[in-house]
Amino acid sequence: MTTMHPDVEEILFDEEKIAEIVRNMGRQISEDYKGKNLLLVSVLKGSLIFMADLMREITVPCAIDFLSVSSYGSGTTTSGEVRILKDLDASLDGKDVLVVEDILDSGVTLSYLLKNLSARNPASVRLCTFLDKPERRRVDIKADYIGASVPDKFIVGYGLDYDEFYRNLPYVGALKPCVYSHKEE
Ligand code: IMP
Ligand code: MG
Repeated sequence: MTTMHPDVEEILFDEEKIAEIVRNMGRQISEDYKGKNLLLVSVLKGSLIFMADLMREITVPCAIDFLSVSSYGSGTTTSGEVRILKDLDASLDGKDVLVVEDILDSGVTLSYLLKNLSARNPASVRLCTFLDKPERRRVDIKADYIGASVPDKFIVGYGLDYDEFYRNLPYVGALKPCVYSHKEE
C-alpha cells in the first residue's frame, strides 16, 4: 500500500497503474517509429521521470535530448509567456522528434515549443504527454500520445511539482487546494 503525503488529497494513479500506462505508450511508439530516426526530447524538469521510464519501454533505436522552458514560478496557472532556458545540444535536421511532456494544460508552452522545434528542419515533430488536462486548454493543440486524462486539479508527483516540491512522490496525486490557495491572486 502506498502511503499518501499529507498535502495530497487523492491518489489518481499509483505506481502499478503508471507502469501499465507507460508500457502501453512505449509499445505504441515502438511500432510507429520502426525504421525512423527517433529523437526523444524531454521538457525539463517535469518529464524527467516519465522520460526515464518511457525510453526503457521503447524497443526501437532512439536518441535523447533535453530542453527547459520558463515555468509558472510558484503559481499554478500559466503567465502565457514562454522562454527557452536551456536549449537542445544537437541539431534536429532529419530527426523524427518526439517531444516528451509531463502534462498538457493550457497548451501555451507546448504550442510555442512545437512551432519552435518545427522550424529547425526535423523530419517530423510529434507530441507525447503523460497527462492531459483537456478542460484547461487555451490554444488548439492535441497530443499524438496521451497517457491519461486528469480532472482540473493541481497535480503533483511522478515528476510534477508545486513550487519545485513533490516531484519525488512515486504516484500521481491531486494537491490539496489549501496548500496553494493562499498563494494565488
Ligand atoms: P501549459 O503551457 O499550461 O500547457 O503548461 C504546461 C506545463 O505547466 C507543464 O509542462 C507543467 O510543467 C506545468 N503544469 C501544468 N499543470 C500542472 C499541474 O497540474 N501540476 C504540475 N505542473 C503543471
Ligand atoms: Mg513541464
